[in-house]
Amino acid sequence: MQMNLEGQKVVVLGAAQGIGRAIAEGFVAERCRVWAFDREAQAAPLPSVEANLSGDVTKYGDLRAAAEQIGDVDHVIFTVGAGSGKFGFPFWNLEPGDWARVLDINLIGAVNAAHAFAPKLIASGKGSMLFLVSVAGQIGSQTDPPYSAAKAGLINFMQCAAKDLAPHNVRVNAISPGMVQTSLNESVWRAGQANLPTDQRQDYATWGGEKIRKVSPLGKWQTPPEYAAMAVYLASDHGRNITGQTINIDGGQVMHA
Ligand SMILES: NC(=O)c1ccc[n+]([C@@H]2O[C@H](COP(=O)([O-])OP(=O)(O)OC[C@H]3O[C@@H](n4cnc5c(N)ncnc54)[C@H](O)[C@@H]3O)[C@@H](O)[C@H]2O)c1
Repeated sequence: MQMNLEGQKVVVLGAAQGIGRAIAEGFVAERCRVWAFDREAQAAPLPSVEANLSGDVTKYGDLRAAAEQIGDVDHVIFTVGAGSGKFGFPFWNLEPGDWARVLDINLIGAVNAAHAFAPKLIASGKGSMLFLVSVAGQIGSQTDPPYSAAKAGLINFMQCAAKDLAPHNVRVNAISPGMVQTSLNESVWRAGQANLPTDQRQDYATWGGEKIRKVSPLGKWQTPPEYAAMAVYLASDHGRNITGQTINIDGGQVMHA
């Protein structure tokens, strides 16, 4: 299948590692012009991109500056995510003060990105936005309540943006991972282990294997290139009638009637 994205301008926010990095590489492989934005952009620069831009999505000024530098853009992909670092079951394992930073990165960061780049998409009358969300935002996950709430909020905002931008021929969607071996996933394991007596602790592979068998009908880890393939498809003209959707790539963990 031809994606016909050559030369299109793509900004990937959260591109230094994990799923975001794979998505940026996926667009490079399609011969797009890619800008990689991340807090750690200089520590882990991507080859073959137009620029590695350092910035923090919680700072609207950083995103405005990136939008100015890039100019016109065709596709905006927001992949940034972070947890509280604590195990939130029950939710009072966390303090109310743990919430603000998590909401700021996962939800307000995405809103900042939408505000910074929407005027460019509206002006060109085409293109797309894509947000990485989570199964946790759809099932009231007990692992990390502020993270789950932030992702639920982001799914709702994605739908709002999809309605607002549809008259401008701009599509907005979300992709929802389940279990992918990245530093974020490892941080969930680490937070949970800290709450257990030493004789009940598990290594990451054992914990992950057991959890996947429990929550996912297909029972296997998802991998970053699967998200890159879907992101590329959604950006392409094959996705021209897809907007306002949350696409689960999660081995069947979340199923809607
Ligand atoms: N890995 C999983 O199992 C999983 C499951 C569900 C959802 N997700 C979602 O997928 C997306 C990608 O996650 P990942 O697992 O690749 O995570 P990751 O931790 O490997 O990568 C996240 C990236 O975001 C960057 N980042 C964090 N805070 C930032 C900020 N304030 N400003 C700029 N950059 C910042 C980090 O430097 C890093 O490069 C996230 O939105 C995450 O919530 C992941």
